Amino acid sequence: MEAIQFLSEASQIAQKELVALTPQLEEEIRRMHQAVLNGYDDVRASINLVSDTTMLTEVKKIVAEKRKLDPACIIVVGIGGSNLGTIAVQEAVLGKLYNQRDTSIQMLYADTVDADLIHDIITCVKPVLARGKHIILNGVSKSGGTTETIAIFEVLVDLIKEYTPDYAQYIVVTTDKESKFWHFAHEQGFTVLEIPKKVGGRFSVFSPVGLFPLGVCGIDIDLLLAGARVMRDRCLLPSLIENPAAHSAGLMYLHHKKGITIHDLFLFSTDLESLGKWYRQLMGESIGKEFDKNQKQVFEGITPTVSIGSTDLHSMAQLYLGGPYDKFTTFVRVKQNRNQMFIPDEPAYNTLVEGIQRTDMQVIMDAILDGVQIAFTKGHRPFTEIVLPDKSAYSIGQLLQFKMMEMMYLGFLLGVNPFDQPNVEAYKVETRALLMHEAHM
Ligand code: PA5
Repeated sequence: MEAIQFLSEASQIAQKELVALTPQLEEEIRRMHQAVLNGYDDVRASINLVSDTTMLTEVKKIVAEKRKLDPACIIVVGIGGSNLGTIAVQEAVLGKLYNQRDTSIQMLYADTVDADLIHDIITCVKPVLARGKHIILNGVSKSGGTTETIAIFEVLVDLIKEYTPDYAQYIVVTTDKESKFWHFAHEQGFTVLEIPKKVGGRFSVFSPVGLFPLGVCGIDIDLLLAGARVMRDRCLLPSLIENPAAHSAGLMYLHHKKGITIHDLFLFSTDLESLGKWYRQLMGESIGKEFDKNQKQVFEGITPTVSIGSTDLHSMAQLYLGGPYDKFTTFVRVKQNRNQMFIPDEPAYNTLVEGIQRTDMQVIMDAILDGVQIAFTKGHRPFTEIVLPDKSAYSIGQLLQFKMMEMMYLGFLLGVNPFDQPNVEAYKVETRALLMHEAHM
């Protein structure tokens, strides 16, 4: 099992500038070490999920119990931090077309109150239920009170009830202890999994939030956590050069100080698109802050964008290479795909595009990525690169842990609290007030 690499030669930040951040970052690295000793009592609690054997044993027990019910499908009901990590890992490890390719246990995600989406999900699962097959419903909400999640959950519980007399055993609720959802689930006899209090939504993929549904669909969650654990330990190292999270955060911070306001995560793998969306939330919510830690109004933030290679070169390369100097890019390269595909060796095709016959697609993709990086270098566009050995659970575990710790270090450098999201709460409160008002009209 290989370690992922972080390459920073083209970052356009001088080593001495980065190293100058060491005393500042050492302080936060010390706090991270303290957090490892504090278990779940620290805001950085999520870094301890990867070594929580009690939690893992409990999740694996419930996974085994529910898989024994021989489900045809699992529907994850949750939004934001409650489903983005799960989708990211599932698609990276099993592939974006998993549901079409593999019919063992389908994975469906119900995140928003879009009547057409929910109607389509019901249309997909009704015939399954009508054939006497079963589905697992996993309601995930840290707060236990997110309007979208609860609304969809209620609709889908009623659907399962209609077809399954002993329906309670097919429903799993993942939430904070003592939330309204927690009490409701217990009253109804549903299975309940707990999210540790101080583990926030966008840092919760290695808690039961991600581990349960990923385990049900057959992903090796031991391997996922093993990769994350190795990376957690790397990201606790005192040397910025050996610590990829602190290193990457330092580079982003220094670019931000020079006026770079956009960070693009450019993933050269279609299966990593949802991982990009997960990262977008991680950066958007952790760093985008109205107030700093001293309650001074700062309107801080770096705008996260996500690009997929080579697809988005055909829509965004013009802007990236010709547009304003306001972006810092992290490329993600996958060294080994799940499959090898060759272009046919047929002389008749030679007249179309030269030089590709008999070539492995991976070689073409690498040439495209290398070509983009040469163009970026010639255009003085700063970038770093993450090299993933493959898209195994072990590699993806490393990548997610790297990025979560990077965001903690970046929040620290920018002087904001990376663990809260007061403005997200603000819209939730307004929505609930409007709906209450409507209900009483
Ligand atoms: O990261 C966050 O905290 C948010 O994106 C939440 O995950 C999202 O709003 C869903 O909240 P909850 O899990 O409480 O339903």
